[in-house]
Amino acid sequence: ESAFAGIDLGGTKMLGVIVDQNGRVLVSEEQPTLAAEGPDAVITRMASLVRRLIEESGRLVSGVGVATAGTLDPKDGTVQFAGNLGWTQVPLGRTLERDLGLRVTVENDANAAAYGEWKAGAGRGTRDCVFVTVSTGIGGGIVSDGKLIRGRSSSAGELGHITIDWNGPLCPCGNVGCLELYASGTAIGKAAAAAAAAGEAEGLALLQLAGGQADRITSREVAQAAASGDPLSQRILREAGRALGIGLVSLVHVANPELIILGGGASRIGEPLLGPMEETFRKYAIASLGEGVRIVPPQLGAQAGAIGAALISEQHH
Ligand code: BGC
Ligand code: NA
Ligand code: ZN
Repeated sequence: ESAFAGIDLGGTKMLGVIVDQNGRVLVSEEQPTLAAEGPDAVITRMASLVRRLIEESGRLVSGVGVATAGTLDPKDGTVQFAGNLGWTQVPLGRTLERDLGLRVTVENDANAAAYGEWKAGAGRGTRDCVFVTVSTGIGGGIVSDGKLIRGRSSSAGELGHITIDWNGPLCPCGNVGCLELYASGTAIGKAAAAAAAAGEAEGLALLQLAGGQADRITSREVAQAAASGDPLSQRILREAGRALGIGLVSLVHVANPELIILGGGASRIGEPLLGPMEETFRKYAIASLGEGVRIVPPQLGAQAGAIGAALISEQHH
């Protein structure tokens, strides 16, 4: 019985797994990405990670899947643009294939996680589910009628870059008013840092958590301050939650799922973000599409992308 390798390549760390055909993890390992060393060094590190995992698993591996943020050319696995890695036009798939002598499939990170959760996690047994991740960026993946929607270039489900305000600010992606600018972990941290830097008394709790330096405030401090009752942090998370809810309305209107799996750091922030998110979603979704849609946490945790990528490579080998 064959096994499959998967790597979730993130901006700060890469997570590798070997899974069986059911998505059961046989072995796993995490390594720093060290993106500053450049694409070649990163790809070499990915190859050694896969070799180590294969050896440790003692299994015959027949395909490798890579999950990564950004835009891709799925035909040859080129990463066209990945802001979190600082990569443009990196022939990731081809280089890794040559190095490993194995077939490599490259997929968008959120799409891979959607597939993993659907096959082996919270989405099991459904035919129509969507996966949403709120972390540095916001990503989305759609399983429709029992099939992952990949699109022309593995970029279907770019939820973070749907417009929620066409008068809004310009996004690095080229669009305006993107959801990611309002509700990602990065956006939450920036909003809080700006409010604290303005020197108003209400920013003091946040400033204290960040050792007095406004630019050190991240979504982690905001979540912490909100949990201990800080009104500014609660307001920032409420606004981000409402933006996220509006994004979910659009996603549900497009994909008509029965289940939304909400991953990334969002689930860790909890109620101050998720309460307003769900309230907004329930209020504005068209009743016949929104009613009965369940919003649940992922079951595969941080491994969803790697497991999903491995299982996608199984389809393609
Ligand atoms: C990228 C997506 C990715 C998401 C989560 C977004 O900024 O555009 O491709 O899925 O972040 O990593
Ligand atoms: Na996606
Ligand atoms: Zn955008």
